Amino acid sequence: MAARIIDGKAIAAELRAAVGAETRRLAAERGLVPGLAVVLVGDNPASKAYVGSKSRAVVEAGMRPLDHHLPADTSEDALIALVRKLNADPAVHGILVQLPLPPQIDASRIIASVDPDKDVDGFHPLNAGRLASGLPGLAPCTPLGCIKLAKTVHASLAGLEAIVIGRSNIVGKPLAQLLLAENATVTIAHSRTRDLPALCRRADLLFAAIGRPEMVRGDWIKPGAAVIDVGINRVADGGKSRIVGDVCFAEAVTVAGAITPVPGGVGPMTIACLLVNTLRAACAQAGLAAPGV
Ligand code: GUN
Repeated sequence: MAARIIDGKAIAAELRAAVGAETRRLAAERGLVPGLAVVLVGDNPASKAYVGSKSRAVVEAGMRPLDHHLPADTSEDALIALVRKLNADPAVHGILVQLPLPPQIDASRIIASVDPDKDVDGFHPLNAGRLASGLPGLAPCTPLGCIKLAKTVHASLAGLEAIVIGRSNIVGKPLAQLLLAENATVTIAHSRTRDLPALCRRADLLFAAIGRPEMVRGDWIKPGAAVIDVGINRVADGGKSRIVGDVCFAEAVTVAGAITPVPGGVGPMTIACLLVNTLRAACAQAGLAAPGV
């Protein structure tokens, strides 16, 4: 039997609508309009497209977009000066510096310069530490989206065997921490892992965040498992190109119980969770209770 397709686009649209409703209530009752500063350095076409989608989603949710576009030759000091200005601006509740950054800028220094309470990407080491310690903080958006998608399959993840393939600071590591917080039993696999297919076959939940087109094959998947594919890989297809995930969808869909498509799975959830983080950050900065989304 074919797997249920997890419709990330529809789930993200629902979440964005819920954030929009809560944001408008906040504006009406408290006069608080969450502001998100998005900083783009240079002209990377993929980054420009991401930033454009983020700004549109911010406006649609009733939040204030504060976009900054800097030239590709911006110095590290100039970017840090801008981040410090945004840190000090009370109209800015969230700050996102789009990655990757040009080679003259050390991304880790920029991430560390963002006020952790405005760090809607959840990349600051203090937020990574809070997440690992089970303390309240801001967690990265893509892993948050993955958890929300997994929970549309299993209301509780407690006791389930989860495998996370990939150990990046942006996806793999924080995703593993969020799964632990949900009481799943978590394995983190990576390029040095031995017998990855056998490890994958144990998993009730499989998260692929490797960045290699269609690496996870159908016979790696436990029958009935939920498969969440974080990969976005552009591959040549005749004279054109198409986007595929890290999972071979055509094979996996015949084995899994539920699976995210690429595109239309995890991708749309990242932006929806960015709005959630911005709303949460605004509430926390105003001393209000966490929103119900
Ligand atoms: N580049 C690709 N994805 C992301 C993201 O989630 N946040 C930031 N800041 N940059 C990115």
